[in-house]
Amino acid sequence: MSIVSRPSRVVSLLGGSIKAPENPCTHVTPRPATPWVGESGTAGRAVVVGAGKMGLPLAVQFARHGWHVTAVDINPEVVAAINEGRSHVGEEPGLAEGVAEVHAAGLLDATLDAAAAVRGADVAVLIVPVMVDDAQQPDYRYMDAAVDSIGGGVHDGVTIIFETTLPVGDTRGRFLPRLEAASGLTGEKDFFVAFSPERLYSGAVFANLSAYPKLVGGIGPESGRRAAVFYDSVLDAEVVAMSCAEAAEFSKIADTTYRDVNIALANDFARYADRVGVDIQEVIEAANSQPYSHIHQPGIGVGGHCIPVYPHLLLSRAPDLEVVAVSRRTNDAQVGLAIKSLEGLLGGLDDVPILVLGLTYRDGVKELAYSRALPLIERLSFHGAAVYAYDPLLSDAEIEHCCATPYHWGERAPIRAIVTQTADPLWTQIDYSLFPELEVIFDGRNSLRDVELPATARYLGIGVQAATRRRHGNAPVR
Ligand SMILES: NC(=O)c1ccc[n+]([C@@H]2O[C@H](COP(=O)([O-])OP(=O)(O)OC[C@H]3O[C@@H](n4cnc5c(N)ncnc54)[C@H](O)[C@@H]3O)[C@@H](O)[C@H]2O)c1
Repeated sequence: MSIVSRPSRVVSLLGGSIKAPENPCTHVTPRPATPWVGESGTAGRAVVVGAGKMGLPLAVQFARHGWHVTAVDINPEVVAAINEGRSHVGEEPGLAEGVAEVHAAGLLDATLDAAAAVRGADVAVLIVPVMVDDAQQPDYRYMDAAVDSIGGGVHDGVTIIFETTLPVGDTRGRFLPRLEAASGLTGEKDFFVAFSPERLYSGAVFANLSAYPKLVGGIGPESGRRAAVFYDSVLDAEVVAMSCAEAAEFSKIADTTYRDVNIALANDFARYADRVGVDIQEVIEAANSQPYSHIHQPGIGVGGHCIPVYPHLLLSRAPDLEVVAVSRRTNDAQVGLAIKSLEGLLGGLDDVPILVLGLTYRDGVKELAYSRALPLIERLSFHGAAVYAYDPLLSDAEIEHCCATPYHWGERAPIRAIVTQTADPLWTQIDYSLFPELEVIFDGRNSLRDVELPATARYLGIGVQAATRRRHGNAPVR
């Protein structure tokens, strides 16, 4: 019997992603408005507080649509760079050109003086981090300081928008009273306050800005309306006016927590795949080939200051949400499982030279916040391993700061195990002749699954085993 293989017409979306098409820009040149009162087709003066990886592209986006933008930051080097028309964020495609362009057009400047900037503005967008502390409670130090710094500049008619992910209720319950106390004015009557989550992905910010619907919720109808009209004037994507600030806050926490829970499920599935000797990547691809399944990718852990953080913003208010709590623990336990596997394969880790590849939370983004490389290095060292590390985005000093010995790409070394912590495409080009003592390749992101690897080293992925791994260009080997 012969089996006819037909190409499937269903595209399996690995990672569960739905591709959002970018929208073309249909804006016409806006009329300048002073003061700006939320009239369509007009532009005024905007302030972006926190000119970091997200804030600086936003400033460029607003300026490109005719707004005069002042970026506010507490870092004098950031302010100086912007005032010279330079982007201090290296990796974001299109950002350096964008900053140079709008600065040269006289539409972007920067300052350390938040109150003065807001005093002269119609709209102020706050995008400084809110993290969690060691007890997994919201750490408001940057946002409290940012809110207090603009308080003296809040004036009649200004619209203040929070884009930083916040626990549900904070726009109205925590920050509105501070702004009212500092200004002596009343929100929704004298000035306007809204929440609109930043939903962008580092490395694709401008594409995302023109594709992802912008969710907007105010503390009252006029606040929501003004914020929605503002975004409509600067974004090509759909603007979704939500019923209230709390619904908009929750939508961001819900979308990101969903991803953490989904990844935890993928990690659980990967553990089971190891037990039954099946390749999890093959399973996920197959399961996602109908429209109701969106299983994400398993991995050595979830890093960055978004996905591992926001479930805690939810749990800080609702600790009884069990699925959320268990998922967080499941994802954080991945590093421990990796170390257990390495210990087993190497017969202990004492004095074993191990090379960790990729220290940032993901490849291509210079961000160490909550990167799982940090506990990975710490625990490998705790078990006696001599930890070497390489990351194309980090200097030797930065790698030493992560408590690892810098490895230089292309160097010969007596490494016995390689652990990939990011999926950097560079790892597919490793010259294994440099590591004659290599015994184990631990593929923390399953990115080496389809790559030719030396037969002398044991391979282990996350739910992908040496026996199921697809050999380069061949069908799975059983
Ligand atoms: N980075 C991402 O991938 C991402 C994605 C979606 C949403 N977000 C949201 O954006 C927020 C900011 O993220 P980011 O990546 O831009 O952070 P970042 O660390 O790159 O930038 C934050 C900037 O804020 C500045 N800052 C800190 N305190 C300040 C203050 N009191 N006043 C003025 N400036 C201050 C810092 O100097 C820095 O330049 C996150 O907390 C998150 O809610 C981030």
